[in-house]
Amino acid sequence: MKTPERQSQDRLRKVHIKTYGCQMNVYDSERMLETLAPMGFEVSPDVEGADLVILNTCHIREKASEKVYSELGRLREAQARMAETGGRMMLAVAGCVAQAEGAEILRRAPQVDMVFGPQTYHRLPAMLAEADKNLGKGQVDTDFPIEDKYDVLPEERIPAGISAFLTIQEGCDKFCTFCVVPYTRGSEQSRSAIAILNEAKQMVAKGVREITLLGQNVNAYHGDGPDGREWGLARLIRALAEIDGLARIRYTTSHPRDMDDDLIAAHGDVPALMPFLHLPVQSGSDRILAAMNRKHKVDVFRKVVDRLRDVRPDMAFSSDFIVGFPGESDADFAETLKLVTDIGFAANFSFKYSPRPGTPAADMGNAVPDPVMTDRLTALQQLLDAQQEAFNRGCIGKTMPVLMEKSARDPGQLVGRSPYLQPVHIFGGGSLIGHIVNCDIQDLKAYSLFGSLVSGDPALLPSHSFVSQSGAAEVGQSPPIDPKERVCA
Ligand code: 5AD
Ligand code: SF4
Repeated sequence: MKTPERQSQDRLRKVHIKTYGCQMNVYDSERMLETLAPMGFEVSPDVEGADLVILNTCHIREKASEKVYSELGRLREAQARMAETGGRMMLAVAGCVAQAEGAEILRRAPQVDMVFGPQTYHRLPAMLAEADKNLGKGQVDTDFPIEDKYDVLPEERIPAGISAFLTIQEGCDKFCTFCVVPYTRGSEQSRSAIAILNEAKQMVAKGVREITLLGQNVNAYHGDGPDGREWGLARLIRALAEIDGLARIRYTTSHPRDMDDDLIAAHGDVPALMPFLHLPVQSGSDRILAAMNRKHKVDVFRKVVDRLRDVRPDMAFSSDFIVGFPGESDADFAETLKLVTDIGFAANFSFKYSPRPGTPAADMGNAVPDPVMTDRLTALQQLLDAQQEAFNRGCIGKTMPVLMEKSARDPGQLVGRSPYLQPVHIFGGGSLIGHIVNCDIQDLKAYSLFGSLVSGDPALLPSHSFVSQSGAAEVGQSPPIDPKERVCA
């Protein structure tokens, strides 16, 4: 099935994918589109008129399933409009809500044709063929199959931009008591280093300059290496850094316990590895970390941050925080504020605890009242926002290397990303897209930096042949680089 034949269709069919949640869902949606392209599907930016609508769902926090059911209600109306014109809109629910709810989705929304999970989307062509034959008979495929989906997905990637995601690891064996990921994504699985290196080379040949390696527990990566040994993340990063034309490497999301010596060292000696790390800590209280089954203490997190700053003094951090975990006292929360004050973060990801059905914390009792959670979240976000603002403001007056990605909304302007994922706007021509250029940073508006190209910029990378992205743009969607959702919990 690696190179599926283009199916003969009277006309191209249109697919619209709505992606919720984390970067891995963005990657999975791209892979679904790549699976559908050889079957004659082209991307539709709108629901109206689409022959297939896929909701790629997220289950990590708050009433996720209810949101999906209301979206399905709205889609029923779009289906009815399409039927009036003689067409038929097929509906699919994918992702972690599909995995968690399974057949319940068909019971509550019988107009759905397909329900499949994160580990079965490679079976989309077969499911579609079945749906074409058996109109109105919904299918559910939420197995954790023995076959590896990466052996079945099309080998050829169709990256949509300069910066792209690459999943290297999936699932989680850590079982934090608040988290659904081990149940929806399954147990930890690492892809082989060869498969990852091949995928990365292909992406770079198509113009990708920055790759973000994805995994729910990305730094627990342990894949088969081409030398017959098991490779960890650091070894993989060092091999990726050798790929000619790959300028920047990032990885997300990490667990503090899996930041091993080699990975910390790689931050000091691999220039392509960006000095910005998202490292979730969740709480500053050891008591709460134990109740969360995080398997690390606050001090472990502090030490990792210190060691990374030792090898890479310009390192910056973001983290995830949950406020109002069952039993969290004022004193526990004060320890979280203290940790944030001590470390200093460059971005803000903080959430109210929400009980996820089936997780141990959901049955713990001892709930923190919602108004208390709200007050704590407000206090934490004020602190983190102030730190982010100070970090961004501190960039004014500096020269930063910026990977230019695309035209900005304002004519004549381009937008790129700093090493810290800050959007940077400059005036410049399209020939700079795909290059890392030195920019003098002059201003900050909201979360964006504004600057100008350093004259006679020396930082233009060696010329690199870029394949036109026009074909890719039709099929893929530009990955958001700093979505508010993270891959791991
Ligand atoms: N309630 C609130 N936040 C959660 N997260 C994961 N599960 C929950 C939950 N039940 C947060 C964690 C995680 C991020 C992706 O989402 O902070 O790191
Ligand atoms: Fe695994 Fe992260 Fe969820 Fe913990 S929070 S169970 S480490 S995915």
